[in-house]
Amino acid sequence: MSQFLLALDQGTTSSRALVLNSDGEIIAVAQKEFTQFFPKPGWVEHDPEEIWTSQLSVAKSAIRKAKIKPGQIAAIGITNQRETTVVWNRRTGQPIHNAIVWQDRRTAATCDRLRKSKSAEHLTAATGLVIDAYFSGTKLAWLLDNVSGAREAAKAGELAFGTIDTWLMWKLTGGTAEAGAVHLTDFTNASRTMLFDIHTGEWDGQLLKALKVPAAVLPEVRSSSEVLCETKASILGASIPVAGVAGDQHAALFGQMCTEPGMVKNTYGTGCFMLMNTGKKSKPSTNNLLSTTAWKIGAQAEYAFEGSIFVAGAVVQWLRDGLGIIKRSSDVEALAAQVPDNGGVYLVPAFAGLGAPHWDAYARGSIAGLTRGATGAHIARAALEAIAYQTADVLDAMKSDAKLKIKSLRVDGGAAMNDLLMQFQADILGVPVVRPKVFESTALGAAYLAGLGVGVWKDKSELAEKWQIDRTFEPSMKASQVKELRAGWHKALERSKNWA
Ligand code: G3P
Repeated sequence: MSQFLLALDQGTTSSRALVLNSDGEIIAVAQKEFTQFFPKPGWVEHDPEEIWTSQLSVAKSAIRKAKIKPGQIAAIGITNQRETTVVWNRRTGQPIHNAIVWQDRRTAATCDRLRKSKSAEHLTAATGLVIDAYFSGTKLAWLLDNVSGAREAAKAGELAFGTIDTWLMWKLTGGTAEAGAVHLTDFTNASRTMLFDIHTGEWDGQLLKALKVPAAVLPEVRSSSEVLCETKASILGASIPVAGVAGDQHAALFGQMCTEPGMVKNTYGTGCFMLMNTGKKSKPSTNNLLSTTAWKIGAQAEYAFEGSIFVAGAVVQWLRDGLGIIKRSSDVEALAAQVPDNGGVYLVPAFAGLGAPHWDAYARGSIAGLTRGATGAHIARAALEAIAYQTADVLDAMKSDAKLKIKSLRVDGGAAMNDLLMQFQADILGVPVVRPKVFESTALGAAYLAGLGVGVWKDKSELAEKWQIDRTFEPSMKASQVKELRAGWHKALERSKNWA
């Protein structure tokens, strides 16, 4: 009987499910958007029940579209938006509050205090992270502080905390303690909580104390590729092992087969997430990158550097919705191509501050270098170029942190379809940009981890043979021109910093 894999890709704006066959080919996809809540400026929430119902419905619909029976699925791989925080009651299975999403800034002041506290140095060393509201720890502390009775209930072991992978596994295994629901996470998701020591692979007592988080709320941490649990048969029509779990950017690194030190991928989504495999030992960053986990397969952990850019594809949405100079996002390439260069115009899309390697929460967006001859086409071009300049700044930081030669950059995500941007990216980096045939790196990574976990594939080298190139963009710009353009970008960038 042929064997299939089901990848559940629970993202920030939509839940997706993909069915793959044992050749690693995608045979069905289903997707559903869900509600975003913005209760106050800077706050972003999701309804955990809607996350679950949307995820379940796309899983069923993908199985239907694939024309397979649930019993033919060898394993499920879960990949998810990271850091987003849910707390629920173990007995009733009810969340005590909406999920606090990774983009939510409500705990910025707690982070300012934490940065000045005696735990600050230990936090960075143990977790590999910078102290920021981005991560789960302060979000969890906020829920325990602000939901009536939560801290006492947490201490008494009545509440469970989880990132989205944990919540989905809990639901897939019955949804209440009485039904036998499991409370688990994987190494990659744990590494984004700001409570987990990525070197020892354990929750960190000092950090739990600093944020007053009782250990009783925490899930058990397992590897990213092993049988973590079996779904309850009534949910999908068969009991299926969940054998792969990883945060979406880690899964994408795996799906891109960046399995050797120095291999780098960049995902061009709303933001950009660049990860570089740094091998079996974690390395501290001296250039404001995150030192994070790549995955843990069996007993072997691997590590990565990560540069998170908050606004990338979102700048194109802004051209469409904010400025109104394009009708559809895909029109940006044609508009930008109307001019041979940026005409000296630079757009810094620091709409939500700047992430790596600057970490300036007070930076704001700007357009610099306007002249009387500047047109919408120059602004469109400047917007696309900004995505490439930000990526180049992160890659420079990675090169200098890793002291490894970078042979190429593997790309995925929506904006990686844009040929003009990818060519410019290669030119600015001076490194070939490689676009794979299968674009769904995140889902692919989750399915690969799950397939490895149950023996559909025997090892990474078998998977590496499946990875194929669609197109390589070779750098062709003169070094002097690259230097001039990047100098212009950095000048504009300086004007955007520390603005608000
Ligand atoms: O760290 C946040 C990241 O995991 C979100 O990814 O693709 O859901 O926007 P995405």
